[in-house]
Amino acid sequence: MKLLTAPSGWSTSADVIVIGSGVAGLTTALNLRSYGLSVLLVTKAQIDEGSTKWAQGGIASALGPGDTPDQHKKDTLAAGAGLCDIKAVDVLVSEGPEAVRKLIAQGAVFDKSETGEIALTREGGHLRNRILHAGGDATGAEVSRALLAAVNEDSGIEVIEHALVIDALKSKTGRVCGVTLHVIGAGSRDGVGRALARAVVVATGGLGQVYSQTTNPAVSTGDGVALALRAGAKIADVEFIQFHPTVLWQDLANRGQQPLISEAVRGEGAILLNSKDEQFMIGKHPQADLAPRDVVAIEIFNQMRLSGQPHVWLDATKIKDFANRFPTIYASCTQNGIDPTRERIPVAPASHYASGGVLVDLNGKSSIDGLYVCGESACTGAHGANRLASNSLLEGLVFGARIAAALSNKLPVQQEAVDDHKSILLDPKILLPLQIAMSEGAGVLRSEASLTKTLQTLGELSKLTSTEPCIEAWEATNLHLLATVIVKSALLRTESRGSHWRSDYPNSQDKWLSRIVQQIDESGNWKNTLEMI
Ligand code: SIN
Repeated sequence: MKLLTAPSGWSTSADVIVIGSGVAGLTTALNLRSYGLSVLLVTKAQIDEGSTKWAQGGIASALGPGDTPDQHKKDTLAAGAGLCDIKAVDVLVSEGPEAVRKLIAQGAVFDKSETGEIALTREGGHLRNRILHAGGDATGAEVSRALLAAVNEDSGIEVIEHALVIDALKSKTGRVCGVTLHVIGAGSRDGVGRALARAVVVATGGLGQVYSQTTNPAVSTGDGVALALRAGAKIADVEFIQFHPTVLWQDLANRGQQPLISEAVRGEGAILLNSKDEQFMIGKHPQADLAPRDVVAIEIFNQMRLSGQPHVWLDATKIKDFANRFPTIYASCTQNGIDPTRERIPVAPASHYASGGVLVDLNGKSSIDGLYVCGESACTGAHGANRLASNSLLEGLVFGARIAAALSNKLPVQQEAVDDHKSILLDPKILLPLQIAMSEGAGVLRSEASLTKTLQTLGELSKLTSTEPCIEAWEATNLHLLATVIVKSALLRTESRGSHWRSDYPNSQDKWLSRIVQQIDESGNWKNTLEMI
């Protein structure tokens, strides 16, 4: 299966194509260069427009005095609610400190304490202060700046901006040997083209736009995960969509990207209050307001249902020097008429992070030869049923380096692409009803009834096909495929675990200590299997 496009009008090639310019893509590209491989880095908008630059809280890593990778591992496993792949967590926490030191050597500047040490804060699910941050609450922007500076200096990385990846190209042996992409460009590289390579690394980030309200930017339409699914790759853990508990509540009619209020605000002392001024997280979890974020999100959701209010309150008025410690959040609040140094902030959960994605091994290899996946698009198993706060930038750093190392000694010669699949395309007007259906039926709390209704809506929407390829249609078709795989998995998992909450199955069950893997075959048939962790 592939997306309907105009015929390819141009072609290019490199040793490796990296799709995406967040922390995962940039890290992979830079590491590939250290092995002398040529890289084509394609990115959907401008090079700094992905999710990474929006990351506020930071990077979790066992760098503080007395902290150890083992303690970081324990917190990661606890947040992951029994579904983490322990080997992947071991890799993440043990290779994390070195990856962060390398990032610092590459020029990233993290905030320091008064004594000149790297300042470490806390976020939900961490039993220690281990979150590095930069610019107060602009960590992702600093990481992105430092990595981009290194990429810009490297003439062996060719960058194509405004390039939406469409589909994988495969050789006759089934190996991924390139991609089709659509470029809004100039000169000879404009419109649909083919980029050929000896391996392809998908690092396209998240799929938050599948919901009406998300912390993700508009570019987060899951294009790489949809590409991998259409190419036949295994996808896992996609029912575990993480809802960030504290997103600035503006208005129910507000759609798309919403301002995040970092968990670090609670890490520095802010508390959640309900409409009766009760600190409702006390007694709900030993870590109260700093419980893992799935626990906090569902409790906020429960409080909203009880009160009939569309939000709860976050009281950050006791935090000293808020405007300097959290400049981005201070600006979002004041732009919305709220002074967080004097007033409570209205907050509600919104979709934030896909803990699952394309199933990969410890070197980022998918189930298809030639296709590697890194960052939020991947399911390494390090997050299980709920990612621990600030483990995502870290995952991009650690696994990006591992993918490059694996590719440095495993690249076959370039193979020829064969192109014999049937095409699909949906009308872009499906997007709004799709997002509404997903938010209503497959959001923080789901049930068989709500999920079945959502699947029916998706079925109806799939009849609205189009013969006019354009960016909006490709994105809508991708989101439709991703919504479908999320709902199918959420229906299958008849329990509550991590960020997957079923009102009809409120408890976790040991028989579900395995991961749901979905795949589509060449004829478009869906297959699901349960894989033990
Ligand atoms: C936050 O700053 O609360 C978000 C951090 C994360 O998603 O890991």
